[in-house]
Amino acid sequence: MILKYLLTSFLISASFSAVATVITIKITKRYLNLPVSQKTERAAMTYQVEGEETQRFVIRLSDQPEYWVFSDVSAYRGKTLTISYAGEAGGLSKIYQDDRIQGQDSLYHEPYRPQYHFTTRRGWINDPNGLVFYEGEYHLFYQHNPFEREWENMSWGHAVSKDLVHWQELSVALHPDKIGTMFSGSAVIDYENTSGFGQPGNPAMVALYTNNSAEKQVQCVAYSLDKGRTWTKYNGGKPVIDSKAKWNSQDTRDPRVFWYQPGEHWVMVLNERDGHSIYTSKNLKEWAYQSHTTGFWECPDLFELPVDGNPNQKKWVMYGASNTYMIGTFDGKKFTPEGGKYFFSSGSIYAAQTYNNIPESDGRRIQIGWGRIPQKEISFNHMMLLPTQLTLHNTKEGTRLFSQPVREVEQLFKSVNKWQSLTSEEANARLKDYSNSDRLRIKTTIKLSHATDAGFNLFSQRMIDYDLNFNMLNGMFYSPQDPTSTELTADIYIDRTSIEVFIDGGAYSYSMERKPDPTNKEGFHFWGNRIEVKNLEVFSAESIWE
Ligand code: FRU
Repeated sequence: MILKYLLTSFLISASFSAVATVITIKITKRYLNLPVSQKTERAAMTYQVEGEETQRFVIRLSDQPEYWVFSDVSAYRGKTLTISYAGEAGGLSKIYQDDRIQGQDSLYHEPYRPQYHFTTRRGWINDPNGLVFYEGEYHLFYQHNPFEREWENMSWGHAVSKDLVHWQELSVALHPDKIGTMFSGSAVIDYENTSGFGQPGNPAMVALYTNNSAEKQVQCVAYSLDKGRTWTKYNGGKPVIDSKAKWNSQDTRDPRVFWYQPGEHWVMVLNERDGHSIYTSKNLKEWAYQSHTTGFWECPDLFELPVDGNPNQKKWVMYGASNTYMIGTFDGKKFTPEGGKYFFSSGSIYAAQTYNNIPESDGRRIQIGWGRIPQKEISFNHMMLLPTQLTLHNTKEGTRLFSQPVREVEQLFKSVNKWQSLTSEEANARLKDYSNSDRLRIKTTIKLSHATDAGFNLFSQRMIDYDLNFNMLNGMFYSPQDPTSTELTADIYIDRTSIEVFIDGGAYSYSMERKPDPTNKEGFHFWGNRIEVKNLEVFSAESIWE
């Protein structure tokens, strides 16, 4: 429904442009639907309610929209919202409020919407943020631009799930403010009310995030008393850590906080310039610098895991945005690496984070990574990869991280066909009918007895590309646990826009955009001189949006 609006042009003090067009809308519905086009220049928009600026962002408003984005304005219900826009004013008259977002009927069923991976309704996503389990809900906050399919206006989007598989997207949790935009961070539950933010019987969910501005990156605190639905910025959003001068660096970001039980204090791992620093705190507000481990960039994580499930043999893992990791010891103030730097996953994964506050009775270390995978639908972009469980194992090379999809993911898949000991020609014939499936899962073991290299394609895209001579698997060095083995096992998750591959029980994994070659007619295609397809199993995949 297009509401009555008022159009006036006058001068405001927007930093981007001197002239802005202003409309006012009396808010009676939940959403404002905003028409946008990638063909229009970005310009500044502000919301004002009762004389106060409540939101500021840039948007490519257009009177010839390529798609629509939305803004949850339920907090302003009954009030008059003043919108100023510094760009082409034509699109303003198309803005309308409604209790449904534009395109609600086809939401999650768009032709190229991933069917068992999390994507946002509208706009851009990157890093998972604030992963925390609380009262039966897995929270997934994420770097989000609600107003466009490209990176901008960094905010914390928010979704919740009861099973890590089916997600419900909620309103934006943290909006940019006058200091800057909301960069990555983490969330904890402050059970002991060390921060004083909590209420009796209602511990605060506390988020530590980076506020990014042209000037610098600082660390700030926000808390929620309603399970992450609404947030208050501590001290008006002013920083609790400002370390630019100390590091002479613009890059100080992505606080990763957890409770360190032996020392009864909070630990923050913060990326500062050339590595990950450790800070400690008693109250989540005052932080003391402790140590620094060079060799990492962005998005730190640090956690302890038993080796081969043995509670008497535990080690700490530190990783950075690329997922490369070091194993070592941690005394609450300093991480000491032992051994080298390794990798366990590659490809589109980036900026992955693990969950805080998983109940002890569960004890899993669950990770979600950003899938840097461009999406074909215009109204949203990029995705989250499947949640995985991280484990440590003693291997021939030493202690190493493994990752496999969490068991909850199993509910989506049903075995529909299974074969053993096939030639590649036989296997290819069996898979013919599945090649055009928009989503499925395939498990296979191949054996190379006469081939130096072999693999498995989908419309010429190499899902497995294994060179046993150079020990290269899809571009990375790989040698199985038994170095004399000529076999490779792969668990392959194919969704509409992505492919994830878990090798040999999670010893190595990688992901990629699904990119069929339209001129290729082969579909699924095993290749390699006289290879044996020892096992082959096809699973159908349910949609998480049904
Ligand atoms: C990693 C990153 C983070 C930063 C965020 C901004 O992808 O660069 O370091 O906080 O993205 O969106």
